[in-house]
Amino acid sequence: MPRTGHRNIRNQPRKASTPLGVHGMTLANAQHAAAKAFEVTGIDDALLEAEILLRHVLHLDRASYFAELNQPISEEEAEAYDQVVSRRLAREPSAYITGHREFFALDFRVTPDALIPRPETELLVEATRARIAGEDAPLIVDVGVGCGAIAVATAANQPNVTVIATDVSFPALALTRLNARLHNVDSRVACVQADLLSGLHGRFDVIVTNLPYVRTSDWETLEPEIREHEPRLALDGGPDGLSLIKRLLHQAAPFVEEGAEVYAEIGDDQGEEAIAHARTAMPWANVAVLPDLAGRDRMLVVKR
Ligand SMILES: C[S@@+](CC[C@H](N)C(=O)[O-])C[C@H]1O[C@@H](n2cnc3c(N)ncnc32)[C@H](O)[C@@H]1O
Repeated sequence: MPRTGHRNIRNQPRKASTPLGVHGMTLANAQHAAAKAFEVTGIDDALLEAEILLRHVLHLDRASYFAELNQPISEEEAEAYDQVVSRRLAREPSAYITGHREFFALDFRVTPDALIPRPETELLVEATRARIAGEDAPLIVDVGVGCGAIAVATAANQPNVTVIATDVSFPALALTRLNARLHNVDSRVACVQADLLSGLHGRFDVIVTNLPYVRTSDWETLEPEIREHEPRLALDGGPDGLSLIKRLLHQAAPFVEEGAEVYAEIGDDQGEEAIAHARTAMPWANVAVLPDLAGRDRMLVVKR
């Protein structure tokens, strides 16, 4: 079968052999060789990770990749694969290597400037969508927007919503702007550099947030992919993990009095503490914690 045009690797230095030694192997065998190296290093989902990186190098979608599984890998491709496999073996997350991560069935650009969006955060988008369905011109705030996962996914799925996206990190806001542009929602996602809700006024339908909630004392126990590559500003939630969420709940109280609902992602062992903080900040509010698909406490819900 002739090679597709997608698989031209330009300007790669030529080498006779590679440390992984996959030159001349079929794509399937090259993938398995990388997967074996990942397994030995303790990297989860080794086969899938090896496939994602090989498809990245070959510029192939999944269907085309499977159609070419028995084709040999070229010298240039083997060299390029070697480089990305080495980065992954050094525990760099594959999303930072490829520059992409899917969230809510949308392709997001990701860089080390922002957290890689996680599947469990889709629960917050679902809750927000359900709450604003049927509203004429809903206005929501995404606090700590990162790469824009919640803000952009919500805007892309709800044509009449406007999102105010805040973050203290200017590079993260720049990434949100890029993702909003790529999904044609930049006119409805307003990026604001702010500490939580500081400086915001008005009436919001939803305040949605995935702020840092890792306890500082747990930092050293995190996987190297997280600890050594993702921004600490996006993860460290202080001594009890809930410092920022607690501060946000107090800031959000006047907005909830006006009718907004708050959806905040939390750690699976933080439900009771998060509820207590919400009740202190808003004694008059209805407060609950909802589980994620795995049945673990994941989202604090506060409403009037
Ligand atoms: C866990 S990440 C979440 C990113 C994105 N919302 C997501 O779900 O993938 C938390 C984000 O909160 C931001 N952040 C941290 N402290 C903040 C603060 N005081 N005010 C606003 N944003 C903050 C971080 O820069 C980071 O982008």
